[in-house]
Amino acid sequence: MKKTDVHTPSAHVGRYAGKTFVLGVTGSIAAYKAVSLCRRLKAEGAQVHVVMTRAAERFVGPLTFEVISGNSVATGLFVSGNEMAHLNLAEIADAILVAPASAHCLGKMAHGLADDLLSTLVLAAECPLLLVPAMDGGMWDHPAVRENVRILRARGVCVMESDTGPLASGRIGKGRLPDEETILAAFSSALSPQKDFQGRRILVTAGPTQESLDPIRYISNRSTGKMGWAIAEVARDRGGDVVLIAGPTGLAPVTNVTWVPVVTSEEMHKAVTTRFADADILIMAAAVADFRPARKAPGKVAKGQGRFVLDLEPTPDILGDLAERRSGQIVVGFAAETGDLLARARRKLTGKNLDLIVANDVTEPGAGFGTETNRVTLLDRAGGCKALPLLSKRDVAHRILDAVRRLTTAGRPRP
Ligand code: PMT
Repeated sequence: MKKTDVHTPSAHVGRYAGKTFVLGVTGSIAAYKAVSLCRRLKAEGAQVHVVMTRAAERFVGPLTFEVISGNSVATGLFVSGNEMAHLNLAEIADAILVAPASAHCLGKMAHGLADDLLSTLVLAAECPLLLVPAMDGGMWDHPAVRENVRILRARGVCVMESDTGPLASGRIGKGRLPDEETILAAFSSALSPQKDFQGRRILVTAGPTQESLDPIRYISNRSTGKMGWAIAEVARDRGGDVVLIAGPTGLAPVTNVTWVPVVTSEEMHKAVTTRFADADILIMAAAVADFRPARKAPGKVAKGQGRFVLDLEPTPDILGDLAERRSGQIVVGFAAETGDLLARARRKLTGKNLDLIVANDVTEPGAGFGTETNRVTLLDRAGGCKALPLLSKRDVAHRILDAVRRLTTAGRPRP
């Protein structure tokens, strides 16, 4: 076989590449759902070390987690040759996720009891901790459990609300483990200690728009929505109250973000305008069509014999329009260019009266449409110009939000 015949899959650069997480699993029937959580975290590039309590082992075998995580599963505090497991794990963990967290587990953690590996390492660790309770509704509502949850939250521990739905007892009520997407979104937020956008209302646009020519055809562009999605997620993780207005992308809605799907530039214009007055910050990562067919044919345009000339008219400039009528909002635009990046971006910054523009040359490898990464330069109206290296779109989103924060006074919109 020639060397070139060997298929080597390209390394997956997930959002958790380089991160190490401890997944604590305690005694609850929902323990089987932790297997899928483990798989999802691993698929995003994390090293996952699973720690099971004795009770958890009654529900799921450690071998299952061992196979899925690719690491040995820790179950005991007194394992010969690994007596320091609690300290080692506490040291290497970037975050600890306990899912499901039983009533017993919450009680121990609230009161600092350390009688097994999981409770001991939680005491020893200094990283973010997310507890995801699962138990019967009556237990969840018991004053002792409510008090334990209150103690933990007052100490700054993230304890999720349980979900409502069918329980193992056959009843319907509170106490259910929240669904996987909700847990992963909460974990992503818990990992971000920075809550500098708490209480800020952030409007983000993403994706392309589609402009119909007839009921069958439309013109559009190559935007996949990944850049805007990353901004929405990061803004949410940093405490923001986020509305994501997005053209057709095929991406799943972002958990805990209000999603407003639109199709055309006109719909996007309306959606952004409606919500702008209530927003503190507008970030437009959407690739809005600059032109649309001047007329939409009511029926399919027949093929005909010769050439077909398409009459296009300009679409309204959403950013320019809203920047014009702002009352204290920070307005951020993007510039997608194929050359002469900085000069063109600066013209858009001043021409559209923006506070900040994120310039990307979409012809650069790893940048622009559809990629997991982007290389951008941030330009602000005070003349600031910061070229960033190639980063994941999430890291770019963080840098954009850092720049937005600097534009505000103590995190508040300008008067
Ligand atoms: O979605 P991905 O696949 O992740 O790709 C990311 C991206 C390349 C789409 C993103 O990084 C990006 O550059 N988005 C802006 C694309 C764009 O429309 O750029 P522009 O230079 O044509 O427009 C300048 C700004 O005006 C943009 O903020 C745009 O949202 C806004 N605009 C444009 C036209 C219009 N009619 N109204 C607008 O508000």
